[in-house]
Amino acid sequence: MITAREASRRNREICALAPIIPVIVVDELDHAVPLAKALVAGGLPVLEVTLRTPVALDAIRAMSEVDGGVVGAGTLVTPDDVRAAKEAGAKFGVSPGATDALLDACEADDLPLLPGAATASEAMRLLARGYDMLKFFPAEASGGAPALKSIGAPLPQISFCPTGGVSPENAHSYLSLPNVVCAGGSWVVPKAAMQAGDWGEIERLAKDASRLK
Ligand code: 3PG
Repeated sequence: MITAREASRRNREICALAPIIPVIVVDELDHAVPLAKALVAGGLPVLEVTLRTPVALDAIRAMSEVDGGVVGAGTLVTPDDVRAAKEAGAKFGVSPGATDALLDACEADDLPLLPGAATASEAMRLLARGYDMLKFFPAEASGGAPALKSIGAPLPQISFCPTGGVSPENAHSYLSLPNVVCAGGSWVVPKAAMQAGDWGEIERLAKDASRLK
């Protein structure tokens, strides 16, 4: 069991570990460990593995053994996703949105959730339940940094991890906002580099991302 407030407190700490959380899609289980090692070596310890491929849960299990990493599960949609993620060893969960069933499951299964919100009303509903560390999704399509800045004016007590369309070019527009702790993005784990096993390239991208402000 974890309360909403404690979940947000823990996720704030996790989000503060690095400016960028890589949003990862693992197609081949063999990639999981070298990928996690490259990202951690590059200075990105917080890893979000999306539950979008058949090997995702095994990837979370394998990556959780990598020293220095904090591995979470992304794309949590149902209570079954929550149970599976927790059992695989996920330290936190991420969802594009939030439902009562999902929030109930995360709280019952002691999985700190970073729930998604794209509007003031969605953010306020989560805040009323005790969540004040949220994912802003889909960030660019929802108005980008100007929208998040506007939401922050009346709701400064809520912090965000914007994700969706974040890039090295626009990351600063988000990271410089007072209501942003970190941002999520998939550019640090390009499919081509993964398939080529080019872990050096991924470490280099991680290093650059770890210096973003
Ligand atoms: C996702 O869920 O795929 C994330 O929003 C990643 O978005 P990005 O590919 O635009 O970084």
